[in-house]
Amino acid sequence: MKKVIIANWKMHPTSAREAVALIRAITNGVRKCVRRVDVVLAPSLPFLSLARKHSSLKIAAQDLFWENPPKGGAYTGEVSARQLRSVGATFVIVGHSERRALGETNDMVQKKLKTALKAGLWTTLCVGEHERKKDTAFPNVIKEELHEGLRNISKSLFRRLIIAYEPIWAVGTRRAATPQDVFEMTILIRRELMRMIGKKRALAIPILYGGSVDEKNAAFFMKEGRVDGLLVGGTSLRPRSFIAMIESIATL
Ligand code: PGA
Repeated sequence: MKKVIIANWKMHPTSAREAVALIRAITNGVRKCVRRVDVVLAPSLPFLSLARKHSSLKIAAQDLFWENPPKGGAYTGEVSARQLRSVGATFVIVGHSERRALGETNDMVQKKLKTALKAGLWTTLCVGEHERKKDTAFPNVIKEELHEGLRNISKSLFRRLIIAYEPIWAVGTRRAATPQDVFEMTILIRRELMRMIGKKRALAIPILYGGSVDEKNAAFFMKEGRVDGLLVGGTSLRPRSFIAMIESIATL
């Protein structure tokens, strides 16, 4: 898989007009880089179809529901994998810390993950600890999020699994982790995955970093943190910075 950069717009921007401008600016700006980098736009639901219409980039949803009945269902406010696919999404994020903060449990995340993978979506499972720890011990919470999240899912479905390491203290805070921290944590995550699902499968799973990534530090995370990609919030809303970031990665 190519390096993958997911632009998580969260609940931004506030109008369709601004969303189209952002979609267009990013799509044009990264055109030269997409041979080397998979740029994935993750707008909020009302803008997914706009992304499809105005961009050739890949599209992700920020969440989905765990039920995916062929004929739809009575689940007010939810969105199914089938619906997402029908508007062109091929990626989805599950278990983002901002969703967990609203009450999403590991159990809910597991159900979403299973449904998304079964539906053939490239699915990014977010894991991360609340507090920064000085030692490099593997935080229990990450272990739990991995084990509970991947529980009872057929190993063959992990072909489309992506893990995003997002320490909560670094998300939206402009206090990014260091590339060295990220490198150590991804080794621990990969080692745990090997124990869980075997070496070959674990080695094939892309591991991303997310948390205050910008155009200045992105290349360091890729090079020294040795991640397979990035999950980018704030910076993905500033086209100039985001395009500069993608360019810095494409030339690595
Ligand atoms: P940030 O967000 O880049 O604004 O820290 C990252 C994320 O929430 O995925």
